[in-house]
Amino acid sequence: MKKISITKLAIISLSALCISTAAQAATTTKPSQLAIYSHMALHHPVWARDGMVASQEALATQIGVDILAKGGNAIDAAVAVGYALAVTLPRAGNLGGGGFMMIYLSDKQQMIALDYREMAPKLAHRDMFLDDMGNPDKKLSRFHGLAVGIPGTVMGMELALSKYGTMSREQVMAPAIFLAKNGIKVTADLANSLGAMSKRLGQWPSTRSIFYKADGANYQPGETLVQSDLANSLETISKLGNKGFYQGKIAQQIADSVVAAGGVLTVDDMSQYQVIEREAVIGTYRGYQVASMPPPSSGGVHIVQMLNMLAQYPIGEMGHNSSDTIHVMAESMRRAYADRSKYLGDPDFVNVPVSALIDKKYAIELVKTIDMDKASLSSDISPTKVLPYESNETTHYSIIDKFGNAVSNTYTLNFSYGSGLVAQGSGILLNNEMDDFSAKPGTPNGYGLIGGEANAVEAYKRPLSSMTPTIVLKDGKPYIVTGSPGGSRIITTTLQVIMNVIDHKMNIAEASAAPRIHHQWLPDFLRVEKGLSKDTIDLLKAKGHQVKVKSSMGSTQTIMLNDLGLYGASDPRRPAALSKGL
Ligand code: GLY
Repeated sequence: MKKISITKLAIISLSALCISTAAQAATTTKPSQLAIYSHMALHHPVWARDGMVASQEALATQIGVDILAKGGNAIDAAVAVGYALAVTLPRAGNLGGGGFMMIYLSDKQQMIALDYREMAPKLAHRDMFLDDMGNPDKKLSRFHGLAVGIPGTVMGMELALSKYGTMSREQVMAPAIFLAKNGIKVTADLANSLGAMSKRLGQWPSTRSIFYKADGANYQPGETLVQSDLANSLETISKLGNKGFYQGKIAQQIADSVVAAGGVLTVDDMSQYQVIEREAVIGTYRGYQVASMPPPSSGGVHIVQMLNMLAQYPIGEMGHNSSDTIHVMAESMRRAYADRSKYLGDPDFVNVPVSALIDKKYAIELVKTIDMDKASLSSDISPTKVLPYESNETTHYSIIDKFGNAVSNTYTLNFSYGSGLVAQGSGILLNNEMDDFSAKPGTPNGYGLIGGEANAVEAYKRPLSSMTPTIVLKDGKPYIVTGSPGGSRIITTTLQVIMNVIDHKMNIAEASAAPRIHHQWLPDFLRVEKGLSKDTIDLLKAKGHQVKVKSSMGSTQTIMLNDLGLYGASDPRRPAALSKGL
């Protein structure tokens, strides 16, 4: 069933490539047409030898594959995919958001962790999201000009390309420009998501005029969505690089629109944005090295912390998704997420005790508090009673090239379509990443969406993230390149892909498809996907877990590498994704 829908949607979206107009600019490059390709069956990954791209959207994957086929490296392809997704997957792909990119350089055997997370504007302050009564006002942090952080994506892509890529900006951006200018065929996935968001997006005239028809009607599958303003913005960036986005017309359009929507982001803030190269968080798990994103993402720290705890158990023997395995996973997750609420924030503003949290001795102490027969109470574990909230709408892609370089990139606007606000005249959707700060440290708001003191709002600070782009190394070489969207569930989703391969010896398609579980300390319940047996759920309940079966979690885009080649797997949970190699 899922297999059929992926094929159908991919074909619908691929027909967008047939569109061409006389007005096509000489500088644009038409992405190659995808005729027939193999896609992942539920339990069989896609195989290739000379390069692989796994992303959430088929056109973007094909653009990455084209770049690899032209001799580009994984970083060239990653930048091309990043810009393409801003056109083809507007709910998460972006110019107006931010993210994290892990790069493995094969010739130098070097791991790079690029932080292009959004920054708070200069006039941001601790109490900016509180109402007159001192309570958090969710509208301000999510659907208002104040929700918008200074975007980092363009500078992140620019730094990656200029420092680690081999192609010109014009080469890697041309396909995205082509698609924005000439239009994409609306897939059922895009039509559904825009239809569901019409109230929120439609409130902004600048957004409504792009994503809805003149009479306000939704685009239907198969119709063409042209994004001319976005094409112009992409062309400006293609010509001028960072200057084209962080200074001049686009910076002014963004600042003007944010201020008109009640925000405080200025042109000067745009010019202050900086990408930071950080040291990756590195851990080990049963002989493999795990490299992931350091703060201001919590992903790397907690994936290593949880793996350190889980390494104390013979997980393989305990069995995949047995009640005992799920129990120790849930208890490890509970303890890691409790620490997250207290200790994690922007390391340029607060002291995050990374080495203590990922110390194996600390994990051994934590494991001593786990009773095999009985679930802990989160209230007994908790340093505080609060937890930051993140939304689902992020996107991840993984790339490996024939040279052995690897890129694991997760980026986001935060919510689906971010704040929903397009900066007037630019076609650029703006993030609502400011909601990832703690609106009121130490106190749950009406939605229970809070974090700790370390994640309080401050000028030019980066909000805490859960994005977990990860590269697992075997004998010093990339073995698994993975990551996922899913808000607070990103870390546990990525964890399970790694465990499924290393502990349960699954191939990467099986590891991606297997039912997932999640515990995040608070609220104190164990979330599971459909597919766990009633027996297992009953055994977990007998240990004291409050089990809730809920909708699917995550959308991993993963590549595995072994002596026989590259194996790609796009999560079957969401439509329109594609893993493809050459
Ligand atoms: N906005 C989701 C995250 O950064 O984790």
